[in-house]
Amino acid sequence: MTLTQMLLAWYDLHGRDLPWRRNPTPYSILVSEIMLQQTRVEAVLPTYERFMQRFPTLQDLAAASQDETLTFWQGLGYYSRARRLHQAAQIIASEHQGRIPDDRRILRSLPGIGDYTCGAILSMAFSQSILAMDGNLLRVGARLFVIEEPINRMKAKGQIQTKFEAMIPAQRPGDFNQALMDLGSEVCLPRQPRCQACPISRHCQAFLQDRTLDLPRKVAPKAPLPVQVHVYLVESKGFVLLRKRTAGGFLQGLWELPWHEAHFGAGRFLPSVAEESHWLLSCLKGQDPLEVRRMDYVFSHRHWFMTIFCHALEEPFYLPREENIQYRWQPWETMEEIALPTVFKRALKARP
Ligand code: ADE
Repeated sequence: MTLTQMLLAWYDLHGRDLPWRRNPTPYSILVSEIMLQQTRVEAVLPTYERFMQRFPTLQDLAAASQDETLTFWQGLGYYSRARRLHQAAQIIASEHQGRIPDDRRILRSLPGIGDYTCGAILSMAFSQSILAMDGNLLRVGARLFVIEEPINRMKAKGQIQTKFEAMIPAQRPGDFNQALMDLGSEVCLPRQPRCQACPISRHCQAFLQDRTLDLPRKVAPKAPLPVQVHVYLVESKGFVLLRKRTAGGFLQGLWELPWHEAHFGAGRFLPSVAEESHWLLSCLKGQDPLEVRRMDYVFSHRHWFMTIFCHALEEPFYLPREENIQYRWQPWETMEEIALPTVFKRALKARP
């Protein structure tokens, strides 16, 4: 038996009995894989059952309101996943005749579908020989092939992916991926791998070399870079000033409160005001902020130390039209409809 055959034979006997595996459809796989992103199977189970009872088909989900979708997501957290899933369902309903695309590029372009979820759907729903690389696969791969590179670096990821890809069985690519996921979550555990129960230990280089506990290697993630940021919460007559930049930079393409970085250099305050902020600052000139608040927020790579300038103006000012940047006065009561990054939702709470 080849390594792949041993793995699949083990999966047939010991694979977990999970609701999305019983009657797999492209839709049930889409929903379950989005729910399973950074969430344990046990936590997903009850929410998945409730969600699928309320939205049994993609059409049901596409026709529902975003609010209701979010209500049925309760218990899982990371609500942006629910919003994106709902958006994806609407796009599939309106632009793809309600059928989940089986083309990698089209599928990958839908909201909420990254490389992992794309691979999971294509392999499990459409039997395409594509790997769905998650953290479990990285750990299993690092041990199986003795990959010395840290698994949170691209180099290791590429090496492991290439080796696993060469093993994908054309008949059962989805089961291959799920067998590796189950192996990772049930047997090839991070701290106490259960090598006695492993169906492929005799092929595992780390096991053979008695190095299972040395692997995988990881480098400590870099601490987020501290950045001083000025944020403007400008309101007038029940409207809030929002901005969207499409030309690049951090958080591009999302609605946001206007902000810019302010650098501290050599103990001296050196405001480095981006081009576009000049215009805004000129509009606010002479107006004392109602309130100045401080807040911090940690992203994966940045730690924002924010100074939030809260302004309330008598009259909204005229907004310029520019190519790479959009402004709008958004009514307060419709703020919920806007996908605003969490950092700005928090900042909005600074409202006096
Ligand atoms: N984690 C993410 N997707 C999974 C799946 N299909 N089966 C088991 N664990 C998973």
